[in-house]
Amino acid sequence: MMPQHFKPDLRWSDTTPKHVFLNRRRFIAAATAALAAGPAMARLQTLPSAYSTDEAPNSLEDITSYNNYYEFGTGKGDPAAAAGALATSPWTVTVDGLVDRPGTYSVEELIAGLPLEERIYRFRCVEAWSMIVPWAGVELSGVLKRAGVRPGAKFVAFQTVMRPEEMPGQRSPILDWPYREGLRIDEAMNPLTILATGLYGEPMPNQNGAPIRLVVPWKYGFKSIKAIVRISLVADQPPTTWNMMAPQEYGFYSNVNPEVDHPRWSQATERRIGAGLFAGRQDTIKFNGYGEYVADMYAGMDLAKFY
Ligand code: MTE
Repeated sequence: MMPQHFKPDLRWSDTTPKHVFLNRRRFIAAATAALAAGPAMARLQTLPSAYSTDEAPNSLEDITSYNNYYEFGTGKGDPAAAAGALATSPWTVTVDGLVDRPGTYSVEELIAGLPLEERIYRFRCVEAWSMIVPWAGVELSGVLKRAGVRPGAKFVAFQTVMRPEEMPGQRSPILDWPYREGLRIDEAMNPLTILATGLYGEPMPNQNGAPIRLVVPWKYGFKSIKAIVRISLVADQPPTTWNMMAPQEYGFYSNVNPEVDHPRWSQATERRIGAGLFAGRQDTIKFNGYGEYVADMYAGMDLAKFY
């Protein structure tokens, strides 16, 4: 199969015959109703956060039915259809590399004692669509501090689980598996960077990256790696999946930046998922609107070069 690149955003109605589109909406509505009627999931106890946006969150339906998760296919509906096959419990995350206390922990151990906050964040995909998502998560810095970051650690590398028997996308070379991402150490320690274990106050749906995924709200969505099994503190900038796949198009930094276009489309505007068929596109904000917390980290860097 040919590798499939990201494409700029199109509406469902542009690409899907109307009856399929309508049936799909009905199917999702029924599934959402069944979920609501089913046994109550354990609600997470989350604290509010000063970092939350006051914009209205997208619906649970939007957030769980329009996903990118290539381990389950390249279509936006594939993760919702197929991610149920991934067994997310028990689950362990290995923290290793340049740390004083390397180890392998259950998700519960990894985040134990750290404040679990609801962070309502803007989320901007490289494909020029966006959503508002109420994540439940802990600051990554809390986990890293506990592991004891050594002075030589300049970057953090993340890896997704490799389980082709449960993740059909991994049986094709559409990407160089396992999915990998990375941050510079100051980006990883920034208080906006979270490891999320839930959304809308409930455990993370599989299609959104259960049981634990990264969220870096000033960067394009592909930096927010799902189903993490390894967090490694390293000295050198680690290889990252989309950068390996197409280095001219996806850089290591990938900060949301309306001034730096993707080579194949503009990043100046975005479509808010769920805003309705007649809502216009909106302007994209540099660093996705989080500049006051993150711009200093890039002072003096040419962001057209370090895209
Ligand atoms: N993580 C893994 N393991 N595999 C993926 O394909 N897709 C990325 C990111 N994390 C991806 C991933 C992309 S391109 C985006 S936009 C976000 O997940 C989508 O997150 P969401 O489905 O929760 O909106």
